[in-house]
Amino acid sequence: MERCKMLSKDKVSLVVPIKDDIQSWYEWVNDIETQSYLGSMYGNIITLEDESDYYDHIRKKENLRTFSIYLNEEKKVIGNVSLMWIDFQNRKAEMWIAILDKNSRGNWYGTDAVKLIVEFGFRVLGLNKINLRVIWFNDRAKAVYEKVWFKEVWRLREESFRNGKFHDDIYMEIFARDFIK
Ligand SMILES: CC(C)(COP(=O)(O)OP(=O)(O)OC[C@H]1O[C@@H](n2cnc3c(N)ncnc32)[C@H](O)[C@@H]1OP(=O)(O)O)[C@@H](O)C(=O)NCCC(=O)NCCS
Repeated sequence: MERCKMLSKDKVSLVVPIKDDIQSWYEWVNDIETQSYLGSMYGNIITLEDESDYYDHIRKKENLRTFSIYLNEEKKVIGNVSLMWIDFQNRKAEMWIAILDKNSRGNWYGTDAVKLIVEFGFRVLGLNKINLRVIWFNDRAKAVYEKVWFKEVWRLREESFRNGKFHDDIYMEIFARDFIK
C-alpha cells in the first residue's frame, strides 16, 4: 500500500499513521531502554490493545498531530513524531519523537523528522513556539534538538526516576523566528 506522505526529505517522510503501524510500535515500545527516554512510559506494559486505543486517540484528538516516521527507500515505519497539546490561541505546542526501531537510530533520520515536524508546526499550523522535555542523559536527543536550534530554558531537578536513581529533566524550546529566516 502506498503511504500518504505529508512532508518529505530525501530519506525520511512524515506519513499519515495507519492501523497496521501499531504492530511495529507495540513490538518496540516495551523495550525498557527505549522507555527510559520516553517520560511516563517507563516501566509500563503496553499491549497491542493499548496501542490500538492510542491509535483511536490520535485520530480523534483536535489538538494533536501525530505522524509515522517512514523511510522512503526501505518503505518502512521506524517510529512516530507528534505535536501535542497544540494551543491555537497562544500558538504553541510540545514536541515528542521516538525512533522506536533501535537499528534505525544514528542515521540522521531523527534530525530530519524533527526538522520536518518543526517546519510543519511553524509553516503549516502557524505556531510561534515549540517546546519539549528531555531527560538529561539522552545525549543523542539533545544533540538533535540543538542541531535544529532548540535552546535549553530550564532544568527540573530529580524529576524522573530511572534505573534506581532520580534524574533531571531539561526543557527546551524553539521560536518560529529562529527557525524560519
Ligand atoms: C533521539 C532520536 C530521535 C534521535 O534520532 P537519531 O536518528 O537517532 O539521531 P540522528 O542520527 O539524527 O542524530 C544523532 C546526533 O546525536 C549525536 N550523538 C549520538 N550519540 C551521542 C552521544 N552519546 N552524545 C552526544 N551526541 C551524540 C550524533 O553524533 C548525531 O549528531 P551529528 O549529526 O552532529 O553527528 C532517536 O535516537 C530516538 O528516538 N531515540 C529513542 C527515543 C528518544 O530518545 N526520544 C526522544 C525523547 S526526548
